[in-house]
Amino acid sequence: MTSPLRLGVNVDHVATVRNARGGPRPDPVRAALAAIEAGADGITAHLREDRRHIHDDDMARLKAAISKPLNFEMAATEQMLDIALATAPHAVCLVPEKRTERTTEGGLDVIGQYDYLLPYVDQLSREGVRVSLFIEPSREALDAAVSIKAPVVELHTGAWCHAVEVGDPGRAEAEFARIAAAAAYGAGRGLEIHAGHGLDYDTARRVSALPQVAELNIGHFLIGEAIFVGLAEAISRMRRAMEEGRAQAF
Ligand code: PXP
Repeated sequence: MTSPLRLGVNVDHVATVRNARGGPRPDPVRAALAAIEAGADGITAHLREDRRHIHDDDMARLKAAISKPLNFEMAATEQMLDIALATAPHAVCLVPEKRTERTTEGGLDVIGQYDYLLPYVDQLSREGVRVSLFIEPSREALDAAVSIKAPVVELHTGAWCHAVEVGDPGRAEAEFARIAAAAAYGAGRGLEIHAGHGLDYDTARRVSALPQVAELNIGHFLIGEAIFVGLAEAISRMRRAMEEGRAQAF
């Protein structure tokens, strides 16, 4: 039995382009509304500690403007927790964050940071927010997510997508096998399985064939494609790729 597959569109890089000039355009909220109009099931935005793309008021405006679930990505810090609780998004995805990284490089260290993360998962869950942990596709991380009582994990697809991009098929297959095994194992342990980072049409199609995957969160590629074909067309092509993949689910 395969579950329906949702597409969350990450609008961070609309804000990256806006911030290049410091004015109000292009507005990530406008992009979110256009994405929903084009078939996105939800909107994801990452309020980074250095505010390099999404700003605090973007989160508030997204929450007020959109009719679909808002997935608030954040590092587990007290300041972010306060903002998330005030925003009351549908979901929070806890991610590791380093100031020097260009993008989220790896998964959360749920095992090493168990005691630190526990109150975040607990408090957000008690406030009715669905908590997701962005993790490496490993059994250990999945077991830790179960113990900490996170209902959802997002499997980091970045290493796989990078291996595909640089043309390293051996590495790519090994990374994909880790994702496939993690999706099956995690779902078996009762976790809702999401996946994201670095996905394009081809990798999204392939990961969509994993029947346990319930949601993909995709940003950079879609915003880049929008330059050439428009956001609505990029989203509709992505949805098609996901449906093609899901039709191959085994
Ligand atoms: N999911 C998570 C948890 C992320 O941190 C990111 C990047 O912000 C994405 C998905 C989207 O990744 P990309 O922009 O590479 O599609």
